[in-house]
Amino acid sequence: MTKKRTSASKAKTKAPTKPKAKPKTKARAKSKAKSKPLCLITGASAGIGAALAWEFARAGWDLALTARREEPMLELAKELKDEFGTKSHILPADLSKPGACTDILARLDKKGARVDGLVNNAGHGLTGQFLDNEWQAHKDFLTLMLEAPTEMTHMVLAGMQRRKFGRIINVASLAGHLPGSRGHTLYGAVKSYLIKFSQSLNLEMQGKGVKVSALCPGFTYSEFHDVNGTRGAMKKLPDWMWMSAEEVAESGFVALERNKAVHVPGRANKLIAAAAGALPDQTALALMRRNSDKFRTD
Ligand SMILES: NC(=O)c1ccc[n+]([C@@H]2O[C@H](COP(=O)([O-])OP(=O)(O)OC[C@H]3O[C@@H](n4cnc5c(N)ncnc54)[C@H](OP(=O)(O)O)[C@@H]3O)[C@@H](O)[C@H]2O)c1
Repeated sequence: MTKKRTSASKAKTKAPTKPKAKPKTKARAKSKAKSKPLCLITGASAGIGAALAWEFARAGWDLALTARREEPMLELAKELKDEFGTKSHILPADLSKPGACTDILARLDKKGARVDGLVNNAGHGLTGQFLDNEWQAHKDFLTLMLEAPTEMTHMVLAGMQRRKFGRIINVASLAGHLPGSRGHTLYGAVKSYLIKFSQSLNLEMQGKGVKVSALCPGFTYSEFHDVNGTRGAMKKLPDWMWMSAEEVAESGFVALERNKAVHVPGRANKLIAAAAGALPDQTALALMRRNSDKFRTD
């Protein structure tokens, strides 16, 4: 079951901090305001989504930020406005609810804003084995992690193709490159889906001005493991397995601009993904059978 965040657990989390890049002057940012492209980022209230907001803002984009909690998005929007003159639309929504994508895009449409970039990032981990969770929990998980990114992409892609300009990041996971684990049953499956989905879209959009990339982080410091209550188990993993949300976002943004269909950030994660791809399926599965419990708590 999803656990609520506490301020104590948040304190242990390395949340996105200010980037090191030099801010643009207010005057310069203002003069570009009218022509700025706009990126819609889901799960922008924390972690990788918030860090990607910094990346897009630094690159001169305006933003539409969505997640359930409004307050952290308002704070983020203020920081980005002060730093880069970024204009942000704040659109609180629960993406595990049917109709949320239509509602978000309708609210943007009402404001006369069009979507040039999309980051499908919102997500969480559902602990336990398949039968430990009620069907409704799995259903909500699939709506959030699989249906919402697919639907949101379908709703904005035609406009991007017509205007011959668009950027899409699907935040998948290293887990999508590995065999299924015992526990977190649907997580690897939906992340594999996002990888294949991004590869297909990347091919379909070749030469059309729309770049599509699946970003596949490994263990990343964010609120993710506080939310699903696995922070204790995660602390046992060695430091080399972890990246900051800022490192992941920076690397993912560069990969998107290079139109890399699938990007695994970080040397250690790349090695793990390559090893998983090179090993015979039975060997990879046996390794997962032996190691699942180290990083997937029931
Ligand atoms: N952290 C890792 O180790 C790791 C590794 C690989 C991949 N990822 C992926 O990275 C993505 C971002 O995770 P993160 O690590 O940045 O975790 P995080 O810090 O917990 O951020 C998750 C974001 O998703 C939003 N969200 C969760 N449920 C939502 C819902 N029902 N409707 C709308 N928004 C929702 C949260 O906002 P609200 O709570 O305000 O709604 C938050 O903004 C996820 O897709 C995750 O699977 C994470």
